[in-house]
Amino acid sequence: MHRPCRPLMTRRPAHDGLMAACLVVAALLGCGCEDPPPGLDLSDDPTRYIEQIEYRRGVLQRDLIGRETTYAQKRLELYGLADEGWELLPERDRPSRRLSVEDTDRLQEGSLDDIDVSDLRPVMPETVPDDGEEWIALGREVVARYPLRSDPMYTVLASMPGALERAGFLTRPDGTWVGLAVFQDEDGSTRIGPTCAQCHCSPTEYGQPSPVVANKGMDLGAANLLVLGYDPDERPEGIEGRPAEVHYDLGPGRADVLADGVFNPLAFPDLGGLADMPYLQQNANWIHGGLATLAIRCETLFTTSNLDRTRIPRALSWAAASFYRSWNAPTPLDANPGPDAAEGEAVFEDAGCAECHTPPTYTSDRLVSLEEVGTDPAAGTSPARGTGYYRIPSLRGVGRTAPYLHHGAVRTLEEMLSPEREEPGHEFGMDLSEEERSQLIAFLRSI
Ligand code: HEC
Ligand code: HEC
Repeated sequence: MHRPCRPLMTRRPAHDGLMAACLVVAALLGCGCEDPPPGLDLSDDPTRYIEQIEYRRGVLQRDLIGRETTYAQKRLELYGLADEGWELLPERDRPSRRLSVEDTDRLQEGSLDDIDVSDLRPVMPETVPDDGEEWIALGREVVARYPLRSDPMYTVLASMPGALERAGFLTRPDGTWVGLAVFQDEDGSTRIGPTCAQCHCSPTEYGQPSPVVANKGMDLGAANLLVLGYDPDERPEGIEGRPAEVHYDLGPGRADVLADGVFNPLAFPDLGGLADMPYLQQNANWIHGGLATLAIRCETLFTTSNLDRTRIPRALSWAAASFYRSWNAPTPLDANPGPDAAEGEAVFEDAGCAECHTPPTYTSDRLVSLEEVGTDPAAGTSPARGTGYYRIPSLRGVGRTAPYLHHGAVRTLEEMLSPEREEPGHEFGMDLSEEERSQLIAFLRSI
């Protein structure tokens, strides 16, 4: 069983005594914690993040937990070290723009060479932003058009009429695809690649696509099946030992991001209200210490997304993090709750929900062990990222964020609280009377 390096420490230690206790526990567990040098100012600061390697390393050391996972080990071995590891990678900002429906129409009639590339430009502006709003605006650009990698799969998909739509890609009102960029590669050739918006952004009540609610329709399995020549609506048999059926079983809204050879997908998290989350990632792999933590989390993902070959200019990862952290939680599904919802609030308190989902954020910094919550342990025990814990999701706007749980296995709030639910775990509230249950659901829809 894997445990976070610092099981006693939920938020950053408030005083030295707690820190000392953490170090003792860490030493007992033998997970080799190293801590940032005392006295180093690690408060959020884009300039220090961009310019000072000790700052970046310090934030990593402060906030990375579950250090025996391969995810944490890789970062400790490669990130924020002078003259070694990822620091030596070439910085890249390839000229790009959003892929348009006109581009894909041309591609379907011809080839990549038929796409007009006269207006490609780097994402990095001439001057680095100097206030929060400018960082967020730049972040929107990064998320929309900084290509994660050159990936022939997306060129194949974009060449097949109807395939992008079938895979769940969305378009903006201006006729561009959400989550796809056209860019110029180092050898001068035109390429298509995915961007961060692919899984994380969907149009909401706010109009333009935002990361408040993830793209629940993004079906990476269907995309793979289409490229492999299968009908995505039929469960295929694997060929020559290559299991094609896992693509079908994945379904929309999830990705198997854990590099451990096991089928243990995670749901795309909804990033509205991210600033309130005490931990990052469903397994709580990071204490969410601030914007700098998120910037490093994103920066290392940009590197691994391009197979450790390049790194993103740091101003752009700070911008992406600023954009992601800037969104409020989804608004309540029910804007005019009736008396049932008020009754439901009392049920919520009496059933003990608030001990973990504590208002007003409806999350808390308690880590809940896999045994206690009882949900599918496959992701929580993975050597890749499993810490033995799942974090507590916020319930703000929960009426809009189905499906539920870390792996998106429960479709509705009714199913979440139903004693007949087949998906195991999280049995809280399953013993309520029918009346209490419907009141509780009315309340959940109103927050
Ligand atoms: C293929 C779909 C996909 C793409 C593309 C993608 N993500 Fe994610 N993202 C996920 C999944 C799945 C998780 C959940 C991982 C976990 O909990 O361990 C996640 C988690 C996150 C989180 C943690 C959020 C939280 O609630 O703690 C952040 C931040 C994030 N992604 C940022 C990015 C950035 C930046 C990019 C572009 C470099 C990106 N993502 C591209 C699927 C994707
Ligand atoms: C001991 C702490 C704890 C208690 C008590 C608790 N929860 Fe949870 N809740 C969690 C954890 C942890 C998860 C995530 C589990 C997972 O992803 O596998 C969760 C997930 C949820 C989800 C799914 C949210 C999403 O976005 O996926 C809902 C809805 C929910 N809880 C409602 C409730 C209600 C209602 C109660 C009271 C009847 C309650 N919880 C009591 C810890 C708790």
